[in-house]
Order: sequence, then structure tokens, then C-alpha cells
Amino acid sequence: MPDLYAVIGNPVAHSKSPLIHSEFARETAQDVSYGVVFAEIDAFEAEAARFRAAGGRGLNVTVPFKHRAFALSQKRTPRAEQALSVNTLAFADDVIYGDTTDGVGLVRDLTSNLQCVLRGRRVLLMGAGGASYGVCGPLLDQMPARLVIANRTVEKAAALCEHFSRVHPNPAPLSAMQYEGLAGECFDVVINATSAGLTGEMPALPDGIFDSGALAYDMVYGRITPFMAFADAQGATTADGTGMLVEQAAESFHVWRGVRPDTAALIAQLRRV
Ligand code: ATR
Repeated sequence: MPDLYAVIGNPVAHSKSPLIHSEFARETAQDVSYGVVFAEIDAFEAEAARFRAAGGRGLNVTVPFKHRAFALSQKRTPRAEQALSVNTLAFADDVIYGDTTDGVGLVRDLTSNLQCVLRGRRVLLMGAGGASYGVCGPLLDQMPARLVIANRTVEKAAALCEHFSRVHPNPAPLSAMQYEGLAGECFDVVINATSAGLTGEMPALPDGIFDSGALAYDMVYGRITPFMAFADAQGATTADGTGMLVEQAAESFHVWRGVRPDTAALIAQLRRV
């Protein structure tokens, strides 16, 4: 019998995680079966318990349950504690472990796959929701010169900065801004962690925000978002979140199985479809 894993979310039918993890299992010769669990909004904890009772070894958690997965976890990694978010649950006999691999997935895609140096650079992170909490710590770990958090609702950006000032050893580069305040500012790396692209919108960025050679990264994958089109027209290099998706999955696979799959071929394959 293979060991059982799944992704849990709402919606979840479109998830590429089963394809990615099946490929990892094949590549690393791990006896793993990976499925999909849809949970009604009020039934996340019950569905997770049912999956565990049926012998499930671990779950990837996607929207909108990462915060509830954090609460469900009985032991959490330091990076999950920092992010207040869990996307990887591991079920042991007597304890539920919680981890988050989103931030390391983004940073690995930026630094290893896209060869983008973050140390000493000016980074703009747009959005102050769960996606930004997930990646802020690992971005600060890279010691950027600045990490500006921009959000429509600036109070949420300020709250995020305040949180990471308390929990991260290197919060000095952090500051919060509204989009209107960005006029005249210039960045080397601009990351879109808002959900705006999913509805065909983009944050209200001013012209001239990208320095020459800048990278514009959208965590949304599989489409050219308005932000990516804007960045391209402004002369920036663009990337979608396909690489982050595969890298966070590889880190989860490593958490569960202790082996690290190759990611390059799969990222290239997913970019083609
Ligand atoms: P998640 O936890 O998935 O990040 P969320 O907590 O709902 O989702 O956060 C979504 C983020 O996208 C927020 O930062 C939101 O900005 P507000 O906090 O001001 O609402 C941002 N967002 C969504 N649509 C947007 C748009 N059209 N323009 C700019 N920001 C947008």
C-alpha cells in the first residue's frame, strides 16, 4: 500500500499538486499516492481528521485554510510560527506537525531558478494577506536593502511589518506604504502577492517603479496577469508563480519523505501547458 497524501482546499479541483507530487514520487521512487480533498468552508478540521483516520500521512493546505491548519497543528516549525500559516501537515501517531514551505519555495525560485540576487536589493512586496505573511520571513532572511510592503489598506501592511518586527531577527529593511506613496520610488524586484490578478485587476502601481534590469514576479501562475503585462510594457523581466508552486511542493515532499526531488524539468513542462 502506498503512503497517502493529498491537497485540501476550497476550491481545489484545479490544483496541480497531484500532478506535481506524482511526478516527484516517480522521480524519487517513493511509494506515494497523492489525491485531492475538497472541504466545505466549515468542515476543514473534520475533513482533515477523516483523512488522517483513513491512514493519511500528510496534507498540503491551500486557500482558504492555511490559518486554520496553523491552529490545527500541535507542533510547528519556526518558519510556520513566523508566518502564522501552515501549508504542510504531517500526521504522526500522536501529534500533528505543521510547516510552511511557501516562503522557501518563492525564494528558491527567485534565487536558484531565476538567478535573482536579493541580498542588498530593493524589494517591493505587494499585498498584506496570507500570501505575504507566508513569504516575508524568508525574503528578510536574504538581507535585502529594503523590503517595502504595499497594500491598498495600509493598516494591514503596517500590521504585517509590526508582526515581523517582533518575530524576525532582521526586520530593519521593512516598511509599509500605500500604492499612492510609491510615486518616485524604484525597485530591483517587485513581487505581487495580491489576489488582484485572479480577477483581471492589478494594484495601482505608478510608472517608473522598475529599475533597469528589474524582475517582476507574480505569485499567480498559468496566466499573464495585468501586473505582468504592465511590468513587461515598463521594460521589466517577468515571471509567474509556476516555479514557486513547484518549489514549495518539493519542500513539502522533502518534509514528508526526507528526499528532495529535482524541479527544473517539471517547471519547464508546466510552463509549456
Ligand atoms: P491571501 O490570504 O490569499 O493573501 P487575502 O488575505 O484576502 O488573501 O489578501 C488578498 C490581498 O490582495 C490583500 O492584500 C488585498 O488588499 P486589501 O488588504 O487592501 O484588500 C489584495 N488585493 C486584492 N485585490 C486587489 C486589487 N484589485 N488591487 C490591489 N490589491 C488587491
